[in-house]
Amino acid sequence: MTPPPGPQRGGAMRELTVLEDAALLVRDGVIAWVGPAGEAPRLPNTAGLGTVDLGGVAVVPGLTDPHTHAIWAGDRLADFEARVEGVPYEEMLARGGGIRSTMRATAAAGVAELVALARPRLDALARSGATTIEVKSGYGLDFGAELRMLEAVRTLQTRVPATLVPTLLIHVPPTEGRTAYVRAVCEELIPEVAHEGLADAVDVFCEREAFTVEETRAILTAAQANGLRVKLHADQFHALGGTELACALGGLSVDHLEASGEAQIAALAASQTVATVLPGVTLHLGLPAAPARALVDAGACVAVGTDLNPGSSPLFSAQLALALAVRLNGLTPAEALTASTVNAAAALGLTDRGALVVGQRADFLALHSPDWRDLAYTLGLNPVRDVFVGGQNLKE
Ligand code: NIG
Ligand code: FE
Repeated sequence: MTPPPGPQRGGAMRELTVLEDAALLVRDGVIAWVGPAGEAPRLPNTAGLGTVDLGGVAVVPGLTDPHTHAIWAGDRLADFEARVEGVPYEEMLARGGGIRSTMRATAAAGVAELVALARPRLDALARSGATTIEVKSGYGLDFGAELRMLEAVRTLQTRVPATLVPTLLIHVPPTEGRTAYVRAVCEELIPEVAHEGLADAVDVFCEREAFTVEETRAILTAAQANGLRVKLHADQFHALGGTELACALGGLSVDHLEASGEAQIAALAASQTVATVLPGVTLHLGLPAAPARALVDAGACVAVGTDLNPGSSPLFSAQLALALAVRLNGLTPAEALTASTVNAAAALGLTDRGALVVGQRADFLALHSPDWRDLAYTLGLNPVRDVFVGGQNLKE
């Protein structure tokens, strides 16, 4: 079961190919042949070549989780309790808690501690089917701590089998001196991150309690001037104009979109920018669901992510994000699979994965069941039996 390669938009998100009794040939981590098992090329009897019988279960492309904040220290359990008792998320942030409390804990941790904390989270995402995972900085407070977060991602890249894609996130401004801070981000932090190759893209939280549209424009423009791609947290609580800005700048993706309306949907549909929805936030914060149904119907390219983080989405499963996008955001199972594979990869600027066709990375999942729709159906039990990265079973 596979979508076609590359980003899919609108109705094309529903066009999956089902191959019955299929076989897949992997060479050097890439799909070399795929088709009916009876027509599979005969392998020469050479050492190093192996045949694996998956037992007739459904095989789908490995998922990409295009939005995580998987590195943090401390916890937000007291926040969680206060929130369910009625204190709004934005109010906690305005009072110096929320994201700012995670920033204090994360800034106090060294790289080794951050790596040790993040590793089991990334392993859980991989077991849920994520073979490519984006990881953001953004809990750094000062630049040294931001760089330590990105160094932790670099270390994790050598320890975690999934592909990790690092993003520099400019998350919330300091309480004093925000103009100087934004200038230093543009003139010091971004050039250093680009020079050291520590991130592929820059993201900004564009929101009333975070950065304004004009501050966001300055940061994203500096990122592009330094050769980095751009993406954005926008319309989580208020549609301020960030979505329109990121589309105009040719951003890879705009993420959240819970407060998006007609104008933002139209801007995304008219652009190449991926609209990434994060159903874990809707569930955990009780926010409105991002309008994924309307986005697909308008012709946009929609992706799904976990937004794994301690404050707004403690969701450790890419499969569950996919399944929730069907319930909360109105995607069909086929659209949700496309949103979690080729479209999620496109949200990271990647077109070499997410489809089971010749030439793509051999990242794929064998489910427990013969019907791929169990991936979108199952809640709270992992329907993924085996995760293959570059043709290698993670269990072996
Ligand atoms: O994507 N909204 C901003 N940033 C994160 C939440 C971070 C946090 O609460 O710690 C998000 O939801
Ligand atoms: Fe986020």
